[in-house]
Amino acid sequence: MDIAREARKLLEENRRVTGDHQYTVPSGDHYPYQWLWDSCFHAIALASFEPEAAKAELRSLFSKQFMNGMLPHMIYWEPGALHKYEWGTAGTSALTQPPMVAYAAWEIYKRTNDRAFIEETYPSLLRFYHYLISERDPRDHHLVGIINPDESGEDDSPRFDAVLNVPPDVSAAEHLRRRLELVEANRACNFDAELCMSRHFWVKDVPFNSILAKNLEIMGHIASLLGNHDDENFCMLHLGLVKDAMRERLFADGMFYSSTGQDYKLLRVETWAGFAPLFADLYKPEEAESVVRERLFDPETFWSPHGVRTVSRREPSYRSDGFWRGSTWMAPHWFLYKGLVAYGFAKEAAQIRNASAALIEQSGFREHYNPETGEGYGARDFTWGTLILDMIEA
Ligand code: GLC
Repeated sequence: MDIAREARKLLEENRRVTGDHQYTVPSGDHYPYQWLWDSCFHAIALASFEPEAAKAELRSLFSKQFMNGMLPHMIYWEPGALHKYEWGTAGTSALTQPPMVAYAAWEIYKRTNDRAFIEETYPSLLRFYHYLISERDPRDHHLVGIINPDESGEDDSPRFDAVLNVPPDVSAAEHLRRRLELVEANRACNFDAELCMSRHFWVKDVPFNSILAKNLEIMGHIASLLGNHDDENFCMLHLGLVKDAMRERLFADGMFYSSTGQDYKLLRVETWAGFAPLFADLYKPEEAESVVRERLFDPETFWSPHGVRTVSRREPSYRSDGFWRGSTWMAPHWFLYKGLVAYGFAKEAAQIRNASAALIEQSGFREHYNPETGEGYGARDFTWGTLILDMIEA
């Protein structure tokens, strides 16, 4: 199979146009909407060969930015699309997703040198990161909070089980019921983050904050390019503050863990989240050595015959076919690949890239995969595998 060709073809097939807006749906049958972090992945994959489509993807996202700067995680461009949730907002969800959008914009700039595109998107980008820093961190402790597991992008991850009060063997249906209940509660709080966090779901998630850190660094580059030195200082200051706060509050026994509640109780469930900080250079080189060699590539826990398990095989919640409860996903693979390359783990990065390619060869572009057998699950013609384009090229 010519994976690169198939990946480009899939991005084209999943492309949709509504009025003046062009975007890509993650999967035509399962996910017929525009999603925030998915669109960032699409833009990263598209940037190298179809930068105009990558720009359109981000413009569509920004067109639905909230007054307060939030970018919603789902946009229902077409009426009648299936909705599981009632948000109380017109045409979009009222939650957000990991803030990858500066990274995606910067990838486009690096490929095109299109300064006008950066100038055009800059105010929206800045408003989004300002929103996260102010509204999602009301106590000024420099970690941003999520108000629902869906905001992590890992809806059913067991690292949120204790907060949702569900057992390790919770069924998918029961899990969805709990999250819908939470949306109801969030709606009753008008999605006011401070209220939602203090009353219902208060999590400082490691991947979300790692992605924020990396994106603040990039916002610093963007501000510098545009000669906005106050903004550049703001971004670099907050990058340092987030990094320090993660170390102070989320670091234990050589790894980062997400936390819950006002006193930062650590959620010590072994998930791939502990490796996400590699993406943002948050581990010191000697820490990264042991995190990568002893933990990530340990076959007893995370490293499987087909790539990285999203949950350690030793966790009671581990299911090789569980949605974010152990199965292998392409976006985590991509984040890990990028982190490993940046730290100089070239051989390990190649292992992840090769495992990703082998999964696509074996089972096609699926939503997630069984790490023990390579079998594909969930949505078909799912776009996350197109991130392989960014791994092959790099
Ligand atoms: C699933 C994933 C989420 C993704 C969405 C659309 O809900 O958990 O991360 O954004 O599908 O692909």
